[in-house]
Amino acid sequence: MLRTHNCGELRLANATEQVTLTGWVQRVRDKGGMVWIDLRDRYGITQLMFDESKSDPAVIAKAREAGREFVLQASGEVIERYAKNDKMPTGEIEIFVSNLTILNPAKIPPFLIEDETDGGDELRMKYRYLDLRRNPVREKLQLRHRMMQEVRRYLDGKEFMEVETPMLIKSTPEGARDFLVPSRVNKGEFYALPQSPQTFKQLLMVSGFDRYFQIVKCFRDEDLRADRQPEFTQIDCEMAFIEQEDILNTFEEMVRHLFKEVRNTEVGGFERMEYADAMKLYGSDKPDIRFGMQFAELNDVAQNKGFKVFDSAELVVGICAEGCASYTRKQLDALTDFVRQPQIGAKGLVWAKYNEDGTFKSAVDKFFTQEDLKAWAEKFGAKPGDLMLILSGETNATRKQMNELRLKLGNDLGLRDPNVFKPLWVLNFPLLEWDEESQRFHAMHHPFTSPKIEDLPMLDTNPGAVRANAYDMVINGVEIGGGSIRIHDREMQQLMFKHLGFTDEEAKEQFGFLMDAFEYGAPPHGGIALGFDRLCSMFGGSESIRDYIAFPKNNSARDVMIDAPSPASNEQLVDLSIKLDVKEEK
Ligand code: AMO
Repeated sequence: MLRTHNCGELRLANATEQVTLTGWVQRVRDKGGMVWIDLRDRYGITQLMFDESKSDPAVIAKAREAGREFVLQASGEVIERYAKNDKMPTGEIEIFVSNLTILNPAKIPPFLIEDETDGGDELRMKYRYLDLRRNPVREKLQLRHRMMQEVRRYLDGKEFMEVETPMLIKSTPEGARDFLVPSRVNKGEFYALPQSPQTFKQLLMVSGFDRYFQIVKCFRDEDLRADRQPEFTQIDCEMAFIEQEDILNTFEEMVRHLFKEVRNTEVGGFERMEYADAMKLYGSDKPDIRFGMQFAELNDVAQNKGFKVFDSAELVVGICAEGCASYTRKQLDALTDFVRQPQIGAKGLVWAKYNEDGTFKSAVDKFFTQEDLKAWAEKFGAKPGDLMLILSGETNATRKQMNELRLKLGNDLGLRDPNVFKPLWVLNFPLLEWDEESQRFHAMHHPFTSPKIEDLPMLDTNPGAVRANAYDMVINGVEIGGGSIRIHDREMQQLMFKHLGFTDEEAKEQFGFLMDAFEYGAPPHGGIALGFDRLCSMFGGSESIRDYIAFPKNNSARDVMIDAPSPASNEQLVDLSIKLDVKEEK
């Protein structure tokens, strides 16, 4: 080894020891007679000291050559510092250097390698390997590492077996677009990268593996957001001979265990909510239940009073912001502007103040009496001093808009504390979802999800109302995971494909292998996948999963460091039968 110790471990108890350290120069301070260098590695920083009156002039000269981010090897004696620094663990000592080797010089880095850097996002991504030297960035990846180890330890302890499934596969129907990989050997044919190992984990249940997990890369070609990357990681799990309750309990316990072990946080039992209630009370299938502000539906008290906007609406719905009756005109206008943004899409916002003196004042006083507004207040359970905010329109769209407004107010009012964790199971999702574009039903989760037996008769009459044995794990308004109890018999699977608009041939072509497997003794089974990047960023208190990925893609799905994606050469394209002739292009 080129070192005897790392840069974070020496203490006063090591004084007088001869040591050798290696690392990067954080900074050099040259005070004439004395030179100090802060030497950094991933474990910490140790101060090197050079003294003109005692050091070898050649060693001092070398110290003066060293610039930021040079790689050094320094040998010398651990001595007690005169001026101690109680802010760093090695702050009581320094190394009086007798031998210094510059292992590698460095160009001046394009941004400061410090906790607070001057580098913008794009620049730091281009030089991600330098960004990763910074403490806050490295610490996030250390958290990810700890999580990964703890997940493996925990699941191994519960008899889950980690099995790797292939990356070059056939399309899996998770609802996003596939990344395709052309096959050279099989001209004109393509593999798809897995959107998840869904079909493989089900086949492993048929194989009798019973409890499977995998920390696995998944690939989805979809629009990026703060919590979405084209390649991301799942903790993917499947169990046989279980019921929904077993999955919920097993993974609730795992997540609570992770919170305790990795974050030293006790989270309470998971709340549970029906999907239909989540939509009705929060306008979202992933409600943030750290705060209340549940929706109140006002159709029966707000319609037929002559206010056309409400009268013509399918739904009149509101939330009550506690203590906000004192909002100024300007603040109310800002809320109206917020809901009117094109990405939210409301036409307007109606407000009604429940004044401290018990009277009401609203934007629609022309149409509603004090008595009417009192009836609204009762729906909300509002108190004097509260502000009621109301939207109206088509049910689903209005709920979505109100969800955005609720979350914004939650932020504005400081109700979304990142150190409070409120996990939730959302249960009984619909089996099918109407897709406007293709004018047909799609599986809301995926086509292997089992329907609730009691809802089966509705498959023909009211398919949208059929519920599935499907569940999501939601923490603080973030969808952390989702899963379902699967169909495990061929006939039911065939029926499902039929309702999803697959012809028998299409179903056989795409999923024949799974249906065949169901004829060789498939056990009842079900599972879940947790978004590992999302779980890490939640633990770390960050909104963006990118911080928890060593080499992430930017918003245009590019890796700006390696400059990918990039054009392929004509030769490669010809090889893959994507182009016919190299010369053709020249
Ligand atoms: P689902 O599609 O719900 O289920 O995915 C499971 C979890 O993966 C995370 N996730 C993502 N994270 C980052 N970037 C993305 N682009 C992204 N897409 C999804 C989310 C999500 O909850 N095979 C099923 C699971 C099952 O049924 O067992 C599946 O993949 O946190």
